[in-house]
Parts: sequence; structure tokens; C-alpha cells
Amino acid sequence: MNRRYRKTIIAGNWKMNKTPKEARALVDAMRPLIAKAKWCTTVLCVPFVDISSAMKATRATKIAIGAQNVHWENSGAYTGEVSAQMLADLGIKYVIIGHSERRQYFGETDEIVNKKVLAALEAGLKVIICVGETLEERERGVTTERIRYQVKSALNGASVENIRHIIIAYEPIWAIGTGKTATPEQANAVCTVIRDTVREIFGARAARSTTIQYGGSMNAENAAALLAQPNIDGGLIGGASLKPESFKAIVDAANQ
Ligand code: 13P
Repeated sequence: MNRRYRKTIIAGNWKMNKTPKEARALVDAMRPLIAKAKWCTTVLCVPFVDISSAMKATRATKIAIGAQNVHWENSGAYTGEVSAQMLADLGIKYVIIGHSERRQYFGETDEIVNKKVLAALEAGLKVIICVGETLEERERGVTTERIRYQVKSALNGASVENIRHIIIAYEPIWAIGTGKTATPEQANAVCTVIRDTVREIFGARAARSTTIQYGGSMNAENAAALLAQPNIDGGLIGGASLKPESFKAIVDAANQ
């Protein structure tokens, strides 16, 4: 973390978990544990149908609610999709884009991710862009190349003025939901590649102020060591964000 130059952001990604009623109960349990975080921003990225109950349950707190996906058009014949304007109108501030599960199961390409990023920025949302290599890519030694490509294509057409709305999450696919975490050094090395790539595109000032998160089996035990790395400014948390005590411990680690 480097709080002098950038925000520390801990975001929970609930994925496809919790009904609206369950969401309300989970946020109620979580709220007193994380609402006092002073030095880090906390975001809960919930399923679309839980947005309204999660927003009600976090009213008058500093906890922000985010979405997990967005379509790239404002409106039209796209059955089942939700636009950035719709999210913005609901009061949503953050949206995850290009999560590896969306790339893997729903055919999201780098080109689609880029279109979604531009649409979300246009609507005034903050984007959490996910990038990450597969185990096979890591073993082949092409991690840096892959990450640089993903970052460059996601940001294609964005401008330096957008930078305060851009968060990048490094999520090695082999670490998601597997209990296998990247070591702090491995994670920091790739987050450094991401920052260097942002520097090439938008310059040194923009790179210095960009929040770069790590995601992939982050939990109460390993959060502090990961967050102590100079280029890791927060976390995108899956499983542990569904457990109030675990999520609290991660927020506490970020709040040190
Ligand atoms: P886990 O924390 O469950 O590994 O999930 C990480 C993730 O995919 C967050 O977006």
C-alpha cells in the first residue's frame, strides 16, 4: 500500500451468492464490523437483484455498493443485460469488469471488456478491471506479456482524465477459489507490471495514483502480508467476503 499517493480499496465480490433477503442479513452483520474503516474504502459488489437491499442496508455509512458486470450499450435489444446508465441511476459507484469467470464462462474477450470499460466510465462509474494469467500461461513464462496485453486492451480509448475512476485488480486465475494464494512477492511483481503499463499509457502521475488490487484466495491470514507490498493497494475478495469476521479482518489489515 502507499496511502500517500493512492486509495486503499477492499472490495468484496459476492459472485452469484445471496438472495436479496440474505443480502440484507449479511450486510447487517457486516456493517458494524467494517463501517469504521478510516483509511480504506470498502465496497461490496453484489448480484444485481441484491443492489437495492444492500444499498438500503448501507445507507448513511461509508460502505459503497458495486455491481459485478455491465453491458456496453446504454439501451436496446439486449435481453437480460443491464446498462451502465441503469447502474449509475441506482446510485451505484463501482462495477467489476472482465472478471476471469466472465471471460471463461461467458465468452468475454479483451475487446468486450474494453467496450464495457468505456461505457462504464462514460456513465461516471468507477471500474474495477480484472486481469490475470492462467496456470498454463504462468508456467510457459508469458505472465508479463499476457497482463500487459490485457491492461492495454482494457484501457484502449480511455483518457488520462479517467484515471481516478480506474482500479485494476490482479487476479491470477490459478489462485481464484482454489485456496492457493500468490506469494506477496509474486503478486507484487505482477502489480508492478500493471503499474508500469499504466505509466506507459497515461504517464507517471496517473500510474502513481492508480489503485491496484490483488485478488485470489485473499483471507484473514494472508491479507496483511499482501497489503504490505508497495504496489498492492487493496484486495478483491471472493469467498472471504461472504464471512463477516473474515472480511472484517481483511478490512482491518488494510486499515492499519
Ligand atoms: P476468492 O477470494 O474466492 O479466491 O475469489 C477471488 C475473486 O475472484 C474475487 O473477484
